[in-house]
Amino acid sequence: MTTRLAILLAFGLALPAAAAPPPAIPYPAGYRHWMHVTSMVIYSDAHPLFAQFGGMHDIYVNQMGAGAVERNGSFPDGSVLVLDLHEAKEDGGTYVAGPRKVLAVMVKNRKLYQTTGGWGFQAFKDDSHMERMVTNPTEQCFGCHEQQRSHDFVFSTYRP
Ligand code: HEC
Repeated sequence: MTTRLAILLAFGLALPAAAAPPPAIPYPAGYRHWMHVTSMVIYSDAHPLFAQFGGMHDIYVNQMGAGAVERNGSFPDGSVLVLDLHEAKEDGGTYVAGPRKVLAVMVKNRKLYQTTGGWGFQAFKDDSHMERMVTNPTEQCFGCHEQQRSHDFVFSTYRP
């Protein structure tokens, strides 16, 4: 490797963001050990997102994004948020988690995801670690998250 190339690589300049699509967002292995942000249940069609997102929502953030969640600030690159969505089953006056519907992921990288607020969006179908559901993040995800611009495109707030 030439010295010049080594310097360029060291500063991350050697590979300018080309037109190539960003690499596939990985399954967020280990997220159940991350910080829990908040939980909520969408249980009836009184909520406009019931058809798509009805169920039990648990939100997690990795260590990189934990400070931003607690301060309600903007997220540094490397932050990952997970929405773990299960069916909510009524059971004798309680709601309990049924099967997982989807594991939705947001990954912050201002360089890779310039057109979607600096966030990469992906969703893994039910319990799959492989089956990715997002092919058009702008239409499927960002179009809605965009309304949270003043909160770095994130809806959930920390429940202390
Ligand atoms: C119609 C609006 C809408 C669409 C479309 C949408 N979301 Fe969300 N998303 C929400 C709302 C509202 C919340 C907060 C409530 C919750 O789900 O717990 C949320 C929460 C999240 C969270 C947790 C962090 C946060 O912002 O609170 C992630 C991760 C997430 N969504 C990913 C996705 C992905 C990936 C897609 C595309 C497949 C997507 N979302 C599409 C409305 C939307």
